Amino acid sequence: MSLIGINTEGLKGRKCKDIVKKSLEIGYRYIDVAEVGNNLDEIGSALEKFDRNEIFISYKIWYGSLSYKEVLKSFEKSLNKLKTSYIDLLLIHWPNKSIPLEQTLKAIKKIMDDGKIKFFGVSNFNINHLEKILKIADKIDLNISANQVEMHPFLYQAELLHFCKKNRIRILSYSPFGGGVILNTSVIKAISKRYGKTPAQIILRWLIEKETFIVTRSTSSEHLKENLQVFDFSLSDEEINKIDALGNNMRLINPPFAEFD
Ligand SMILES: NC(=O)c1ccc[n+]([C@@H]2O[C@H](COP(=O)([O-])OP(=O)(O)OC[C@H]3O[C@@H](n4cnc5c(N)ncnc54)[C@H](OP(=O)(O)O)[C@@H]3O)[C@@H](O)[C@H]2O)c1
Repeated sequence: MSLIGINTEGLKGRKCKDIVKKSLEIGYRYIDVAEVGNNLDEIGSALEKFDRNEIFISYKIWYGSLSYKEVLKSFEKSLNKLKTSYIDLLLIHWPNKSIPLEQTLKAIKKIMDDGKIKFFGVSNFNINHLEKILKIADKIDLNISANQVEMHPFLYQAELLHFCKKNRIRILSYSPFGGGVILNTSVIKAISKRYGKTPAQIILRWLIEKETFIVTRSTSSEHLKENLQVFDFSLSDEEINKIDALGNNMRLINPPFAEFD
């Protein structure tokens, strides 16, 4: 799996197809998609000309589709749209306490046993959610490999990161630039000058130093290329500590149904 992937949420129609195709041409090999993205047909078309086995797809199943029946039905529908026979990593998009996790996981285990997913994970799960799901998953021998969460220098979730590392769950960071607002931070700009890198590259490098995988979003070819050029330098401990200290309270993605508490 490549460390840096493309977040396709919000991309629609022809633009979606073009950006996914462009990203694959540039060299991205990790594409993050969502059941609710309303763009699976376009992503499927963009993938057609590439070797499926070289591409890692993470797919998020919507929080309203978590009953046993719905998981199986919506997953099949999405596979058809994406024109693929398997998904590399299936994620539960958001926790939903109104649907028993036992039945969601039973369906996911079936999909895995049928060979249609390689890995399973979650998204937007906090430590409480993880403690609960780990127990249930353990009973049916289902591994939780990843937790995709909003993570950036203004929402450095050190405790969650530590918990995930301890439980061998890989953090996949989304919104690395906080939608763009973090790029103007003076601490990050100062470090970027030192390395001749852009603020975006410094933030991505910081997330790599934290051993997370990342999904970025960009509609610009230049930015897409730039965001992959982060493997030829590393940050010092002092610089990492300075970025760590930027704060921990800017959560951008907090829909009404979210259960962070
Ligand atoms: N699991 C989840 O729940 C999940 C997962 C993934 C995404 N999401 C959703 O995806 C969205 C997150 O996206 P976000 O927009 O916050 O992501 P982001 O990656 O933090 O920010 C994207 C913004 O940064 C700009 N950008 C990208 N690369 C850049 C570069 N090298 N230099 C300068 N600017 C750059 C982009 O502009 P350009 O287009 O001009 O490059 C875009 O405006 C949210 O709406 C969230 O709901 C959710």
